[in-house]
Amino acid sequence: VTKTTLQGCFLYAKQRLKEARISEYELDARLLCNFSLGYSKLDFVTNPDILISEKSYELLEQVLEKRLSGMPVYRIIGTRDFYGLQFNLSSETLEPRPDTEVIVDQVLDFIKDLNKPIRILDLGTGTGALALALLSQLPFAHAVGVDISQQAIETARKNAILNNLEERFTALKSDLFETVSGVFDVVVSNPPYIQSGIIPQLSREVKDHDPLIALDGGIDGLDFYRRIALNSSKYLVKNGMVCVEIGFDQAIDITDIFHKNGYKLLQLRHDLGGRDRSLIFTLQ
Ligand SMILES: C[S@@+](CC[C@H](N)C(=O)[O-])C[C@H]1O[C@@H](n2cnc3c(N)ncnc32)[C@H](O)[C@@H]1O
Repeated sequence: VTKTTLQGCFLYAKQRLKEARISEYELDARLLCNFSLGYSKLDFVTNPDILISEKSYELLEQVLEKRLSGMPVYRIIGTRDFYGLQFNLSSETLEPRPDTEVIVDQVLDFIKDLNKPIRILDLGTGTGALALALLSQLPFAHAVGVDISQQAIETARKNAILNNLEERFTALKSDLFETVSGVFDVVVSNPPYIQSGIIPQLSREVKDHDPLIALDGGIDGLDFYRRIALNSSKYLVKNGMVCVEIGFDQAIDITDIFHKNGYKLLQLRHDLGGRDRSLIFTLQ
């Protein structure tokens, strides 16, 4: 096999990423080959000997260099799937993570009638991941996604169009609730929750590529939960719910914050790795 066949390119990419100790080297090699060479996953199985042009090969070299310099694979490709939808990324949006899908499942489990025209508020919407994933499962719901970053708002708006959900989605620039009006059945949020002091210790993939404003939750990481717990009640219907993603070691502190603001914990959920990941509350 030479590196000018599809299979050869894949083996070459895999080898280079493995040598650089990239943990998901096989998956990354496959994604980068699909992206730069323009072939699907199926082609790798059915057409491994197809010949690759010089130009495509050069593009593969370029994307490999980016990955080797620490750029995460989905940033190179520019899109990432979340809850079966496709999301474009931009430099001011966090990459939606598979663990965040837990929040979508949890909210859906607590909605009695999926066909009700409920209203959802997504605080810190980023790419629009949570709001749009929920809208995709709730055919009559409407969602407002707010973010403090104008570029994130624009990206979320484009992602709504990409997934044909724009008629039920409003993107709003706001510092949390600042410019929000109306009431909602559900408030969801995956807010910044990393302690400021820990950010320098994160992997280069995260600290150099996810925007700092999407990560930094203040000295103890809990600033946003305090603000959300303090203000949500004004924006919730009776029996409304608040569902938040949390850091693996924050469940007790965050439950305490919400209790003090009159909320009752309905459920704690774990992610695929078995760590605490999401809390859902209702007003008592
Ligand atoms: C952890 S990211 C989550 C993004 C997206 N919801 C997701 O789950 O992939 C947090 C988001 O909150 C936004 N953000 C940070 N501070 C904010 C504020 N004061 N008001 C509104 N949004 C804010 C960031 O720009 C970022 O998009």
